[in-house]
This record gives sequence, C-alpha cells and structure tokens, in this order.
Amino acid sequence: MTFKCLHAASEVAGFAKTGGLADVAASLPVALQARGIETVVVMPLYAACRTSKQGLTPTDHRFRVPMGERMIEGRLWRSTLPNSAVPVYLIEQPALFERDDPGAKRGLYQYADDAGRLADYADNSARFGFFARAILETLRLLDYWPDILHLHDWQTGLTPVYLREIYQHYAKHHLRDRYQRIRTFFTIHNLAYQGVFWHYDVPMLGLPWRLFTLDKLEFYRSLNFLKAGLVYADRLTTVSPTYAREIQTTLLGCGLHGVLMQRSRDLVGIVNGIDDQTWNPETDAMIAATYNVNALAGPEEEGGKSRCKTALQKHFGLDRLPRTPLFGVVSRLAAQKGFDLIEKVVPGVLRQGAQLAVLGDGDKIYRDLLLKLKGDFPRQVGVHLGYSEPLAHQIEAGADIFLMPSQYEPCGLNQLYSLRYGTVPIVHATGGLADTVVDATAENVALARATGFAFMPFTPAAFGDAIERCLRLYHDEPARWRTLQQIGMLQDWSWRRSATEYERLYRQAASEFV
Ligand code: ADP
Ligand code: GLC
Repeated sequence: MTFKCLHAASEVAGFAKTGGLADVAASLPVALQARGIETVVVMPLYAACRTSKQGLTPTDHRFRVPMGERMIEGRLWRSTLPNSAVPVYLIEQPALFERDDPGAKRGLYQYADDAGRLADYADNSARFGFFARAILETLRLLDYWPDILHLHDWQTGLTPVYLREIYQHYAKHHLRDRYQRIRTFFTIHNLAYQGVFWHYDVPMLGLPWRLFTLDKLEFYRSLNFLKAGLVYADRLTTVSPTYAREIQTTLLGCGLHGVLMQRSRDLVGIVNGIDDQTWNPETDAMIAATYNVNALAGPEEEGGKSRCKTALQKHFGLDRLPRTPLFGVVSRLAAQKGFDLIEKVVPGVLRQGAQLAVLGDGDKIYRDLLLKLKGDFPRQVGVHLGYSEPLAHQIEAGADIFLMPSQYEPCGLNQLYSLRYGTVPIVHATGGLADTVVDATAENVALARATGFAFMPFTPAAFGDAIERCLRLYHDEPARWRTLQQIGMLQDWSWRRSATEYERLYRQAASEFV
C-alpha cells in the first residue's frame, strides 16, 4: 500500500505567504511525493488565494463544525502546488479567512491600526480553531486516510487535540478506526509564535474544561495552541538541530522549555531544504541576468552576477559602482531579525562608503528605523517597505553580502538562498544559521570549507567584527572571496537530504504504533 501523508499549514507559497513556513509547506510535500509518498496539502482559503496563479476549482465537499453555540460551514476548493501535481485543498470560510488586503494593510493574521501598528485579529482563535478541525473533516470528505498527518505551527496546534479527544472516540465506528490509525507530526517553525488566547475560548472551540490543565492546554491561565500541539502530537520536529537544543533552554524556550524537555525523546531537528527550481540563479526569470558558479570565474564586470548588482543599484537609485560592497537584507521586520544590531553597526559601515538594499515588511519601529537610515544615507541605501517576490530574488542575486543577524533563527531560508546565489551571508551563529553557514576563519578558508561569516555573541561588537572581517576579504583578497562565493554556491541545500530524514521518521512512527 502507498504510504500517505497530509500536510496542513496556515500559509503555502504560491497561494499566501508571510515567511519561510510558506516556502516549506510548498516544497517539502513535492520532495516527499518525489520519494513515492503520496502527499496532500490543506490550507485556509484567503483572499490572496483567489488571485493566485495556481487557479482554484470548487468541489462539492461541504462540512459544518460547531463553534460555541453556532455551526460554521466550510467548503473545500482544490488546486495544486506550484510546479507540481501535489493536490492542495483550501478551506473556504469567507467570514473567517477572506479579509486580507495588502492595500488596506490587512494581512493573514494581523492588520495595521490607524497609527500603523500591527495588531492580531481578535478572532484568531476561532479562525484557526475552525481550521484545525476542518483539517480532520477534510480526511472524511476526501476519504483520504494518511499514515502521517503533518501539522505546522500554532495555527494547527489544536488538530491533534481534536483528533485524540473527539474524532478518535466519537466519530462513526468505521471512521473512528480510520482516525485512530493516523500518527501526527507537529513541526515548530518558530516557538515565539504560540497562539495564546483567553481561557473563555475553550468552550467556544468545543473543548471540554477538563483539558484546561497545566499538563495540557493551559499556559499561565490562558489557552495556548502551540502547547496543545506539543503535548498532543505523536512526534515533534523543528527546523534545525541547533534550534531543537536551544528551545529546551530557558533562554530560547519561550516559556515552553519544560514541555519540550519532557518530550525531548520525540523531538528532532531537521534543517529545511530549499526549492531549488524557484531559487536557481541559472534559470531565475526574475533577475537581470542568469549565472552559475563557473561564470564567477570569468572577468568580474562581465559576469551575470555583476549585471544583477548593477541592476539592483539602478533599481534603488544608488551609484553604479562595481567595486563598492553592496549589502542586502530581505526580512520580515520583527524583533527576532536583529534590526537593533543593524541600527547600531551599519551606519558606521555606510560611512566607509558601502551600500545597502533592504526589502522588508512588518513592525513600525523597524520601518521607521530603515527609513531613517535611508534619510541619513540617501545615495547609499535603498529601502522597499512591502512584499515583493521579484525584488527578493533581485536582492539575493545583486548583493555581494547578505546580512542576517537574527537574535534567534529556527532555520532561516534567506541565508540558504544567498549561498545559492553567491551572496556571502553574515549571520549570528544561532539555530539554523549556525547549522548552515561555515565561518570564514583562517582555518576554514584554508580548508576550502568556509561559506560565510558567523558571529557570536549577539552584540554590536561581534557583528561589527564579522562585517570587518568580511570586508577585508572582499577588498584585499579577491581570489579567496571568489572561492568563498563558489563554495557557498556548490552546497546542496535542496530537500533531497531532509526529505529522506522525514521519510525515515514517518515510517518509524507508523510502524511503532500498529
Ligand atoms: P521567516 O520565516 O522567519 O520570515 P525565513 O528566512 O525562513 O524567515 O523565510 C523568509 C521567507 O520570506 C523567504 O522566502 C524570503 O524571501 C521571504 N520574504 C521575507 N520578507 C519578504 C518581503 N518583504 N518580500 C518578499 N519576500 C519576503
Ligand atoms: C519560521 C522561522 C524561520 C524558518 C521558517 C521555515 O518562520 O522563523 O527560521 O526558516 O519558519 O521553517
């Protein structure tokens, strides 16, 4: 019998995206399918999905689930993942999901108030409680019974609870059996986002009060969706081995390190892969000129990467200087991403003449910080506040150096895209950044294994020192710089390796429980 899995996530690239979760949800299923595991994806149907290139088709599958006193209806729509035949089912419930509108500053989970500050939608618990349950309804409606139900982040945290506490007991007899055979995987993409709501949402979500205890859903007198997933799922994974260790400490455990320590035997860290079709400098249609690792060996000014740099400088109205180091940043503007360090250190670097191109969206304090930087260095800094996929590719291709001084980073994808595009990353050695970037110490450079610059501790001094080391190599040792770029480009961070690891865990979990 074919081994089957179903992935459920609140965002999937090609349909709706705020960060790396969407990239993973769109590419891991394709890699699993390629390994012969039948894979289906489920996500909410947001307004953004209606206009996606993928095209949606309605199905006749409708369902109703209780929410408080009311029954809420949903309907399944169907599509496929970008560049693949993997089916995607989208849960239609317009009042809950179709309110996003970038023009009006309304996102998938948050909206901007009149002062421009981001706030969570007040009914997020109902929205994602409904989604969590709809995932289980989908199995019944499609008559699709996966061996593994793979859930991502807090938005799906209640699914294993509904499965174990309701569907495995109360469904009709033949279905009960089916629900009982499913094993759940829960992946933590970012422990800082937990979905914490006031406790009166417990009955609204159709859950009994007896579950509202310290060892289950309760978290400092509130209801915590992520904790629910951590307690109820059969297996836990996170997106890098270092982050798997870090989240079991008080420093990065976000109040849940105790729960994670208790489950440490079931917790594994697997570094994400990247979609190497979408992020490929040799075929990328969004960049000014394509290039590959060999092209970097030729005369610099003629190479594709140099042309991408010139195009990026032109885009942002910066001086077109081929030998001036151009730093790139593509990031959600959130506290996690280290903009405090950028604020303290980067002005000094700009004073020495470097250039900076930033693409980002998010918190107002960081938007203001970036606009100030641009105001202070108008000819050296380009800032685009908003979301733009083409520009993300153009920065990855056109920059010389990519800055990712995240305070913590579960995995991080942008440093992997940077490596692929020959853009040398400077990262704080935390989480997936520590696991994927090899610091250019003299020894690592000599052994031809360095791929970037990794600094520790998380201080302006250490960050400044890494930038200095990087610029020294860039200016003084062009041949070694080229080698650093080339070694980065030759790394294989595609899903091949990680999908194998997921498959191994899936099969182990499925066999252990029968
Ligand atoms: P996180 O998921 O924490 O945001 P990752 O590095 O894992 O961090 O993934 C970020 C993803 O979101 C990358 O694909 C990146 O290119 C993309 N991204 C972030 N901000 C923007 C933006 N403003 N415009 C376009 N893409 C963005
Ligand atoms: C989260 C993390 C990021 C990770 C991504 C995909 O958004 O912040 O580090 O790469 O999920 O797993």
